Amino acid sequence: MNVKESLLGAFAASGNNYISGSALAEQLGVSRNAVWKAVKALESEGYIIESVTAKGYRLSKNSNHLSEQLISSKLSSSVLGSSVIVLDETDSTNNYAKKLVQKNAPHGTVVVADRQTAGKGRLGRSFVSSKGIGLYMSVILRPDFGISVAPLITSVAAVAAAEAVERLCGAEVRIKWVNDLYMNGRKICGILTEASMDMEMRSLESAVIGIGINVRKTGDSFDEELSRRATSIEDETGISVDRNELCAAVISCLDKCLGMIEDRSYLGEYRRRELLTGNIITANIGNETVTGKAVGIDDNANLVIETENGTVRTLSSGEANLCRISRG
Ligand code: BTN
Repeated sequence: MNVKESLLGAFAASGNNYISGSALAEQLGVSRNAVWKAVKALESEGYIIESVTAKGYRLSKNSNHLSEQLISSKLSSSVLGSSVIVLDETDSTNNYAKKLVQKNAPHGTVVVADRQTAGKGRLGRSFVSSKGIGLYMSVILRPDFGISVAPLITSVAAVAAAEAVERLCGAEVRIKWVNDLYMNGRKICGILTEASMDMEMRSLESAVIGIGINVRKTGDSFDEELSRRATSIEDETGISVDRNELCAAVISCLDKCLGMIEDRSYLGEYRRRELLTGNIITANIGNETVTGKAVGIDDNANLVIETENGTVRTLSSGEANLCRISRG
């Protein structure tokens, strides 16, 4: 680890407290001049470092720079996040992660980018991924669970991301089947899981879970149409959540929730947050459109709909939207 990286680790450990130049020098085993140089180098990379005479330095809460050290220092999970790769820019963290899978990257590797030039959404859509605004991350899994639970991965990720966002901003986060997170009626997060199967072994070889969360004020990065449907944590709560902390929280929550995939015990949390249930909805499944009442989420995270003629339909994928808000 070089002096800059060690300095970031020291800032992460000291949180809101200032640390003096001499304490940092001692901790890092370098001269005070080397600490000063490292502070300047970090500032030139975009970190905001506050310095106060007789107190020392600390990383500003307004610093919005993604860093492997800052993410790793806040991680409380075990295997996930054992390797965190932070990129300034990539086409899509999912594409990047899939290339790493080909190169044998281990289970739990996380790829995070400050900006995506071709962020991918579900159903061939794009995901707006402007610099400094969102958390765009992908997690590589090489799971040891059976193929039968593979379709549950996205719903596990939805619960994990909802818990992480709520932990950091305190506002209620809902899940819209199957994988969108909502705050105050608009989308703040989307999830795209891409899996690779071993057909011969009838097992899941690897999966890449891509999570995109709109964190900071969206400003003019969203056009009018997107602004009607989507929003960000800061736009809704006024809180400028630290993206490093949020990334670490998502990884930790995902680690916990994946441990509940086989016994499906995370589903209670999914159901509690799900916002279509109890409403009349329209669902598009391939070329078919089904209208009915969403009556719940079954044990395979499918949406169960009761159509107007009384037929019960179970949807495993596709997209569903509220027709009108009518509880009960
Ligand atoms: C959706 O809303 O339809 C899913 C959006 C998923 C976006 C994330 S951002 C990180 C990862 N990389 C991508 O290209 N997509 C996912």
